[in-house]
Amino acid sequence: MTQHSKGTALITGASSGIGAIYANRLARRGYDLILVARNHARLDGLAKRLTDETGRAIEVIAADLGNKADLGRVEKVLHQDASITLLVNNAGVGATTPLLASDVDKMEEMIALNVNALTRLTYAAVPGFVERGGGAIINIASIVGIAPEVLNGVYGGSKAFVLAFTLSLQKELVDRNIRIQAVLPGATATDFWGIAGTPLEHVPSEIVMPAEDMVDAALAGFDFGERITIPSLPDAADWDAYEAARQKLIPNLSLNVPATRYRAGIS
Ligand SMILES: NC(=O)c1ccc[n+]([C@@H]2O[C@H](COP(=O)([O-])OP(=O)(O)OC[C@H]3O[C@@H](n4cnc5c(N)ncnc54)[C@H](OP(=O)(O)O)[C@@H]3O)[C@@H](O)[C@H]2O)c1
Repeated sequence: MTQHSKGTALITGASSGIGAIYANRLARRGYDLILVARNHARLDGLAKRLTDETGRAIEVIAADLGNKADLGRVEKVLHQDASITLLVNNAGVGATTPLLASDVDKMEEMIALNVNALTRLTYAAVPGFVERGGGAIINIASIVGIAPEVLNGVYGGSKAFVLAFTLSLQKELVDRNIRIQAVLPGATATDFWGIAGTPLEHVPSEIVMPAEDMVDAALAGFDFGERITIPSLPDAADWDAYEAARQKLIPNLSLNVPATRYRAGIS
C-alpha cells in the first residue's frame, strides 16, 4: 500500500493489546511509526509485519517508561524528531485489588507509568507541535477515571488524572491547532486483565469489548473531532448531560462566602 505520509505517530505500549492495534490502524492510515514498550522482540515483530504490509517507515524504541533514563530517551525523541505529528499515550497498567490487598510499591509504579510518564511525554511533545503549527495527542484513559469505584482506586485515580489533564490541555491549546482526545475504554479484551490480577475469563463477557472494535470506535471518535470518546456509551447525550452539569458547577465552585447551609454556626 502506498499512501502519502501523515507524519509520524509515536505510540507507547505498542507491543501488545490496544497499542499494537493503534499501530496497525495508524500505519494503514499513512502514518510512519515509532513504537515504544519494554518488550523489544515483540516490537520488532510488529514493526516488521507492518512494514511488509503497509510500506511505512517504522522504528522501535525498547524503553521502560517507569525508568527515568529510559523515559528521558523517549522524551528526547519527541523533542528532536520534527516529523512527529501524533503522540498516542497508551502505555499503562492497572490493578483490580482493593487498598488492603494492594502493594503500595506497585501502586507507586502504576502512578509512575500512568501519570508521570504520560505527563512528561506530553510536555516533551507539545512545544514542537506549537512550533510546527499543529499536532495531536490521544490519551488512553479509562471509564474508571469517572467510575473509580469499579476497580483499584489508584488505577481509577491515575485515569482521572489523565482525563483532568486532557480537559485542561484542550483549553490551553485550543488556539494552537493541537487536538487532544481522551479515550475512556470500558473493559477491553487484552493482556491488561491478567497482568492486573483478574483473568479475562473472570470478567463478564457482556462488558468486554474486542480490542479491535474499541480502537476502531476510538479512531472514529477522533475523526469526528471528539474531545472525549467513550466507545461503548450508547447515547452520546448522556456524556453531554454529565459535562453540562459539570460546567454548571464551575462558576459556583469558588466564591468569597460559604454556602448558606454552612453558615448556621458563623456569627
Ligand atoms: N484492557 C482494558 O480493559 C482497558 C480498559 C481501559 C483502559 N485501558 C488502558 O489501555 C492502555 C493499554 O492497555 P491494554 O489493555 O492494551 O493492555 P496490555 O495489552 O497489557 O498493554 C499494555 C502496554 O503497555 C506496555 N507497558 C507496560 N508497562 C510498561 C512500561 N513500564 N514501560 C513501557 N511500556 C509499558 C506493555 O508493553 P511491555 O510489557 O512490552 O512494556 C504493553 O505494550 C492502558 O493505559 C490501560 O490502562 C485498558
